[in-house]
Amino acid sequence: MTLAATRIEAVDCRRVWDSRGRPTVEVEVRLAGGASGRAIAPAGASRGKHEAVDLRDGGERFGGLGVERALAAIRETIAPALVGGEVSDQAGLDARVVALDGTPTKSRLGGNATTAVSMALAHAAAAAAGRPLWRYLADIGGFRPRLPMPMIQIYGGGAHAGQRIDLQDILLVPVGASSFDEATVMAAEVYRAAGLRMAERGLLRGVADEGGWWPEFASNEEALEEGVAAIERAGYRPGEDVALALDVAATQFRSGSAYRLTADRVDVDSAEMVARVAGWCTQYPLISVEDPLAEDDDAGMIAFTAAVGASVQVIGDDYLVTSAERVAKAASAGACNAVLLKPNQAGTLSETLAALHAANAAGWHTVVSARSGETEDTTIVDLAVGWGADQLKVGSFARSERMAKWNAAIRVEEQLGRTATFAGRDAIGGRAPQR
Ligand code: PGA
Ligand code: ZN
Repeated sequence: MTLAATRIEAVDCRRVWDSRGRPTVEVEVRLAGGASGRAIAPAGASRGKHEAVDLRDGGERFGGLGVERALAAIRETIAPALVGGEVSDQAGLDARVVALDGTPTKSRLGGNATTAVSMALAHAAAAAAGRPLWRYLADIGGFRPRLPMPMIQIYGGGAHAGQRIDLQDILLVPVGASSFDEATVMAAEVYRAAGLRMAERGLLRGVADEGGWWPEFASNEEALEEGVAAIERAGYRPGEDVALALDVAATQFRSGSAYRLTADRVDVDSAEMVARVAGWCTQYPLISVEDPLAEDDDAGMIAFTAAVGASVQVIGDDYLVTSAERVAKAASAGACNAVLLKPNQAGTLSETLAALHAANAAGWHTVVSARSGETEDTTIVDLAVGWGADQLKVGSFARSERMAKWNAAIRVEEQLGRTATFAGRDAIGGRAPQR
């Protein structure tokens, strides 16, 4: 037991609420020297089968989504194991929690409990060191802090919009920007132009879960057409100034061995799905595609990556669930060329960092990502900057749980001043397979 100021004195927790009005877990870590750190767990709606699971109460209250059991796991199991520990030993503390849980998906203690604890520990360690978390992470990890290229949702869909269209996210990427701040200016203009078009066409129905315009479209492709039109209307050149990206989240509309594209009134098999999405990549200025096939469709992911991966970024989200092991396996199989990093898919920051290292080792691009259920917590901005990740995906350019992240990144860029570097257009796109 250490007697230093960085000794963990208490791990407190409480129930707070996320952007969907659902209960979630907040953790506060207090150190002997008086420093403290706080973090809130986010929550997904289109989750991968292999990701860490949240511990929820079940029953009638809050639709079964209460977090009393997760809070009890923190109070009764996690806190007693961490109190007295050295807060700067993030890897050791995370390993202790992983061992206490003992399951492959954090189902005993809850990914919501372990994620909030892990992030709060990092905040407390940074506070004790008197540094912003992003700088602290860069220093201890040997990274050069860098502002990521943002990926910003224009239209929501899939599980975030009542399955109104099948595609889950149509996103813009301001590839022509030369700073993070400029990227947000471009995003604001395109997002607004997209909304104006919806209003003029009588299709404005508010926004989906992550703040993107509600996808009142007749087909999936119409969303892509509209995205291009919005970029042009804002005065930008599609593909050159502002590119498009997709999160297909194909697991959500997998039906047996088929893909059920309800908006297009057609069922397709894996090979047809590969051809369809690859076709969109040549027809539209798409620079990145996430989860084009379902999480268990290895052959499809490999075929898609072979077809477009040299020029288009292929991200695994549900497919890789922020797992270093899965990243390494996919890299050697030639599936994907980029990873989505969601701390609560892994359940701890150390496991999230391991997935980032695996992706870096494979020569992949890295994308730190929020969940569809978010809060004012901006930890992922610190991770993206401090770990030098290529991109940051947090949803749209509306709703404060999203804007809190963009605004936090703007502040970091200002703090770095002349030494700030921005992950420009080279930090996104295809990669020739490295096999
Ligand atoms: P989720 O989806 O947070 O609802 O799981 C986000 C994504 O698929 O990227
Ligand atoms: Zn996704």
